[in-house]
Amino acid sequence: MYRVPSSLSDGPSGLSATDIRATKGQRRLAMLTAYDYPTALALDAAGLDLLLVGDSLGEVELGLTSTKEVNLHMMCHHIRAVQRGLSRTHLVGDLPYNSYRTPEEAVQSARALIEAGAMSVKLEGALIPQVEAILADGIPVMGHVGLLPQTHDERRRRGVEPEEAAQILSDAVALDHAGCYAIVIEAVDSGVAQKITEAVGAPTIGIAAGLGTDGQVLVSTDLLGQLPEPPRFVTPKADIFHLVIEAGRAFAYDVRAVESPTPHR
Ligand code: KIV
Repeated sequence: MYRVPSSLSDGPSGLSATDIRATKGQRRLAMLTAYDYPTALALDAAGLDLLLVGDSLGEVELGLTSTKEVNLHMMCHHIRAVQRGLSRTHLVGDLPYNSYRTPEEAVQSARALIEAGAMSVKLEGALIPQVEAILADGIPVMGHVGLLPQTHDERRRRGVEPEEAAQILSDAVALDHAGCYAIVIEAVDSGVAQKITEAVGAPTIGIAAGLGTDGQVLVSTDLLGQLPEPPRFVTPKADIFHLVIEAGRAFAYDVRAVESPTPHR
């Protein structure tokens, strides 16, 4: 079984968005998602740079079929739980589908995530007026390019065709110029992800985008093996799903093995 090396729990703590931007070219960033208090408590001790309450919440934590079913109320509920488990890690809150259709709506929604305990917010796509409005309100913004699960129904690798690659690069550059402190690159051809990384001043954080980015992010339920079928690009570091089955079976066995049960006290 994989164990966190104890040296990792001495990692950097309490990074602000400005600190995170300043890591560009200095060191790589490790980010995971988290959705609940116990996972946040453990991942905080693991010394990650950032934790994201992502809208992947809908699919991997709530058993819904799409991130589109996640709303601001759900995001705030889970951000509050995660925030209670953190003492050192930068907490990012994802703006959910249909919560940032205009710059005004984006500011209101971003404020709600910050009030719930996020230190910065993430949004999908090169929505520059929205990014500028949120930044003008004093809230740091993380960008997200490539596969955008809130609007792309087709889950395929992006940027393989030159035209699409050029569009993703130009979106990332626009987000960087607008002032995003970091940019997630999801499911993008590795050569294109590396080109973006070289072109922007903000650190890039990749998921299924090769190793040429400034950091990596994974969905924690995939990394921890909490669901039976993790995506192919993830090598789980734990097998929580089967541990829970074993623990549940052991408990049921113990309970049923007692011939004269004592009443609950
Ligand atoms: O919602 C999420 O989990 C994300 C990550 C894939 C970056 O946006």
